[in-house]
Amino acid sequence: MSIRIAPSILSADFARLGEEVRAVLDAGADLVHFDVMDSHYVPNLTVGPLVCEALRRHGIDAPIDVHLMTCPVDRLIGEFADAGASIISFHPEATLHLDRTLQLVRDRGCEAGLAFNPATPLDALRYVLDRVDLILVMSVNPGFGGQSFIPSALDKLRDARRLVEEHGGNVRIEVDGGVKVDNVEAIAAAGADTFVAGSAVFGADDYAQTIAALRAAATRGAGARR
Ligand code: DX5
Ligand code: ZN
Repeated sequence: MSIRIAPSILSADFARLGEEVRAVLDAGADLVHFDVMDSHYVPNLTVGPLVCEALRRHGIDAPIDVHLMTCPVDRLIGEFADAGASIISFHPEATLHLDRTLQLVRDRGCEAGLAFNPATPLDALRYVLDRVDLILVMSVNPGFGGQSFIPSALDKLRDARRLVEEHGGNVRIEVDGGVKVDNVEAIAAAGADTFVAGSAVFGADDYAQTIAALRAAATRGAGARR
């Protein structure tokens, strides 16, 4: 499975968001990770469908990977699908009817992701793996960019990879939080194939060099897994 690098807009300069997103895509990014926080499910407040739609109007045609850190989620799914989202991930504890919410995402033509906080087990996947396109393993507590990677996420990535290999078919495994050039090889070796990187990319002077370094190290790690 190909390695994908997904810069998180959370660390971009929001006053120049369109330019920033274009710059990371020109620098080799594969996805745009779009963090949505509601000041309720998490203590921070960010952006909604209007901004996603504005990126599409700005000519951004790369996949937009929407990470909903909101409660509830169902109403936002239609709004983000209309706004041009490609992937929509949400947290299982943020919806009452998990199966229905997953179905809603696919019915609206998007890929469905389930996101797991550091202390949340992968149990929710048990009966719905066939409805999931992406497992998002949080390696920080959601809410803020620039936090340190929580090492137990490596065990969870290994568990997720095992699950996917045993039952999952074509399910992507994404890691989110504290991903840097110096830890991404081990993270890939544990099982991730899609790497969110906010501060590591947007905090760098040279986006292309950083994305290339992330991809090279992740490719080495994924190779070690085989
Ligand atoms: C955290 C967000 C992440 C965050 C990652 O709640 O979901 O996407 O922006 O930022 P870094 O890479 O700086 O940890
Ligand atoms: Zn995120």
